[in-house]
Parts: sequence; structure tokens; C-alpha cells
Amino acid sequence: MTFAIEARGLVKSFPGMEHPALDHVSLSVPEGGMLAITGPSGSGKSTALYAMAGLIGLEAGSVSVQGKTPRGRADWARLRARKIGLVFQDDWLLPTLSAVQNVEMPMIGVERSASARIARAQAALAEVGLSAHAERNPAGLSGGERQRVAIARALANRPAILLADEPTGELDTANSTRVVELLKGLNAAGTTVVIVTHDPDVAAQCGREVHIVDGKLEEMA
Ligand SMILES: Nc1ncnc2c1ncn2[C@@H]1O[C@H](COP(=O)(O)OP(=O)(O)OP(=O)(O)O)[C@@H](O)[C@H]1O
Ligand SMILES: [Mg+2]
Repeated sequence: MTFAIEARGLVKSFPGMEHPALDHVSLSVPEGGMLAITGPSGSGKSTALYAMAGLIGLEAGSVSVQGKTPRGRADWARLRARKIGLVFQDDWLLPTLSAVQNVEMPMIGVERSASARIARAQAALAEVGLSAHAERNPAGLSGGERQRVAIARALANRPAILLADEPTGELDTANSTRVVELLKGLNAAGTTVVIVTHDPDVAAQCGREVHIVDGKLEEMA
């Protein structure tokens, strides 16, 4: 079986910590799966997600994406651009760019045609229900709308895998439900989805939940 993501024995320490941020974490996510990562603040959830995207150096362990193990930063960058969509814990939209320009960003370097990029960015904004706000800057959007723009940006290159770090963390119940429905819809259409969340209701809607405490991962029943 080919996994969307297969992490084996990940170890990552930061200076001054009593225990590693990731302490021999192994985790396999099947193609088309929807996984929630839960755990207390500071337990290693974001670090685990970043490791799965090849964004941090590890002391030990390896990560494969669709059966391939990228070697080095350039290899990871190429693979990430085409296969992995990332939604960060804060939306990290560029404040001087409109929503549609923010969504276009990950396509620069992947899609040469500017008109194709814009068309795809508009389509991604439509997927998250924000076509009407395409020309607005982030400051003119609500928190829920900004998070949906960040999701559209993650979808820009039609990734097989979506990694979302607390995508509902700052949202009220109505907006949180909307974002979760969106992610479930993407998963139903074939995208592998990994969500870091504090919210038990969000975790309960994923097919599987793993819990991280002090950098150690445990499977939830
Ligand atoms: N760049 C860094 N330098 C030093 N320590 C770090 C760094 N990144 C993370 N840490 C530490 O590693 C541990 C795990 O951090 P991580 O961000 O993965 O937690 P988290 O589970 O995502 O927490 P939260 O729910 O608050 O987002 C924490 O103790 C954190 O302080
Ligand atoms: Mg975090």
C-alpha cells in the first residue's frame, strides 16, 4: 500500500526543552484519509505537521510522500509545491495583496501562464465560497474569510495532500463548521487531509484521531 504520508521515527529537539518536541513519532496516513492530530498546547502538533511537509530538519527519522522520500531542501520544495497544500496556524496572508493575488502566490514557479494562474486562483476562491471578495485585501475580510482564503491558497496547485494547522482555531462555531465542511468535501473528492485541532468536535468528524503529548504520539480509539 502506498501512503500519502509515511513518517517513521521522527525525532526533533529544540534547545532548552526537557524532552524532544517529537519523540520517535511514526505515523502513516493512507491516500484519501482524513486524520486529526490533537493534544495540549506545546505538545508538538505543529512541529509534526511541519515535519510531514519537510519544513524542518530532523535529528532522526524520515518522511515519505506518496512512496517517495525527498532528499534535501530543493527536492522537498519541488514536491511541496506540487503535492502538498499548507494551511498555517495563522493565516499568513500578505497584507498588501488582494485575496486572489494571495491565492496565486504558490502557483508562481509552478504555472507559467499568468492568465492560467488567475483563472485557477479564481476557481480556488469559488471553491471556498469567496468569489465576491476576490479583490479585497486581507484587512477587509473577517477572520473566517481570511482562513478560507488561506485554504484556497493551499488548494492553488490542486494538492493531493492538505495539511492544515488549527484551521478553525480562531473561528466562531458557524465559521468553524463551514471550514470543516469544506475540508470534508475536499476529502470526499479524494484529497488526503491532516488537521491539527484543539476542537474535539472537529476531531470527531475526521476518520481517525491521533493524540500527541510531550512529543509522543498515541492512537485514539
Ligand atoms: N523554532 C522553535 N524553537 C524553539 N522551540 C520551539 C520551536 N518550535 C517549537 N518549539 C517548541 O516545541 C514544542 C512543540 O511546539 P509546537 O508548536 O509543535 O506545539 P503545538 O502542539 O503546535 O502547540 P499549540 O497547540 O500551542 O500550537 C513547544 O514546547 C515549543 O515551544
Ligand atoms: Mg501549533
